[in-house]
Amino acid sequence: MKALITFEGIEGCGKTTQIRMAGEYLGNQKIPYIITEEPGGSPLGKKIREILLNQEPYLIGARAELLLFSAARAQHVEEVILPALQAGKLVLCDRFSDATLAYQGFGRALNIDFIKTLNDFSSPSLKPDLTLLFDLPVKIGLSRARDRITRVRNSPREDRFENEELAFHRQVREGYLSLVKEEPERFRVIDASQDIATIHREVCRYLASFIRR
Ligand SMILES: Nc1ncnc2c1ncn2[C@@H]1O[C@H](COP(=O)(O)OP(=O)(O)O)[C@@H](O)[C@H]1O
Ligand SMILES: [Mg+2]
Repeated sequence: MKALITFEGIEGCGKTTQIRMAGEYLGNQKIPYIITEEPGGSPLGKKIREILLNQEPYLIGARAELLLFSAARAQHVEEVILPALQAGKLVLCDRFSDATLAYQGFGRALNIDFIKTLNDFSSPSLKPDLTLLFDLPVKIGLSRARDRITRVRNSPREDRFENEELAFHRQVREGYLSLVKEEPERFRVIDASQDIATIHREVCRYLASFIRR
């Protein structure tokens, strides 16, 4: 079974929590899979992740930000995602091209059509087969994300986006929801304000019905 399944949503919506639990579920079903993330995923992507997610003492403008995310994606697709798909694995990816549209398109107000072209360039002939969108009010997401940053001591801070205005995150959330309207058949929208176990059951139901198809 080869397919690309992406996990999307604003900061703190539970992507990383749920992708790990989804991996355990697939492992129990003996379905070969990998879990990967953007930015990150490849050695180059990890360097770019540090630049993009940590508060650095220099400016990163919207255009530079978009191109850095795209560079990370290009390497990640070539080095990690395509080989895993070729090996017949399910690829679970924590954020992918929809995040670029939601954050840099809807959040930063860069040209959406240009971002779509750039997304196609960075991941040639590769689109997610299924996308789980964890939707919740931004205040809840941000307070969970801030909680995590203060609680998990040795983790990198990765708070450059968390420190954006509420209005920015609302645009990102609305952006994701408008992507769902464009491609309703690819997305499953999950109410991420529910508890972790309830959300996990919903994720498993969607994965099971996708795998049966
Ligand atoms: N459904 C949930 N209810 C309450 N807290 C949650 C839920 N899902 C995740 N969390 C907690 O919220 C924080 C952010 O979750 P995380 O999975 O890291 O989100 P994301 O990867 O989307 O930013 C973590 O501390 C996590 O334990
Ligand atoms: Mg995460």
